[in-house]
Amino acid sequence: MTHTRFPNLTVIDHPLVQHKLSLLRMRATSSRDFKQLVAEISMLIAYEATRDLPVEAAEIETPLGQITGHMVSSKRLILVPILRAGLGMLDGVSHLLPNARVGHIGMKRDEASLEPTHYYTKLPIDEPGPDAKPSERRTGLEYFILDPMLATGGSATAAVTTLKTAGAYRIRLLCIVAAPEGIQRMLDGHPDVRIYTASLDEGLNAQGYIVPGLGDAGDRIFGTA
Ligand code: PRP
Ligand code: URA
Repeated sequence: MTHTRFPNLTVIDHPLVQHKLSLLRMRATSSRDFKQLVAEISMLIAYEATRDLPVEAAEIETPLGQITGHMVSSKRLILVPILRAGLGMLDGVSHLLPNARVGHIGMKRDEASLEPTHYYTKLPIDEPGPDAKPSERRTGLEYFILDPMLATGGSATAAVTTLKTAGAYRIRLLCIVAAPEGIQRMLDGHPDVRIYTASLDEGLNAQGYIVPGLGDAGDRIFGTA
């Protein structure tokens, strides 16, 4: 449901999502289980985040007859995990959208300044570029940024800017835990980007970690802590 405080936010409060998120948050959860839970939660978030995707009529022949069905054009869907931790979400979302194309954006947050360094971009198609007229923009493409953690919002807002500079028009952010600071930063910088999350947490601690959060997502997914 849309959040009362943030018009750009949808919190997925489904019981299964909340159950899996509680397991994910536990300090004792192993890296193997953590990875599996991230994938499962991501798939459930993606189910909600794709609720309003346009469908096209398609003539379908069943074993018993003919019907006009409806299908999502998967060529229009582009998943963009933010490296590294966003890769953990890619497995789950790809299960639901197996034909979606995938781009990558690399961001590393500086531990002192909390600002991200952008180190890599590879998108699946040649985009028209920042000076393209609106009619030249790829308005039919749907971009889904994947990153489990929205903390200060520096990484996610920079990723949105990168996509828009490349010509992207319709962009959503899927995350697992979000802090109010990050949601507000996205609302200020990119109010057109809807954020889907399993939880709106309390805030950030002095080191910029989400509280209560789940710790360092990248380290827990890849076992690098
Ligand atoms: C984490 C996380 C986000 C970012 C969130 O990545 O996956 O990308 O921090 O923080 P922000 O909202 O304050 O920008 P990190 O930079 O630690 O890189 P990693 O995924 O490679 O561990
Ligand atoms: N990045 C993480 O992995 N966790 C946080 O709580 C904040 C940023």
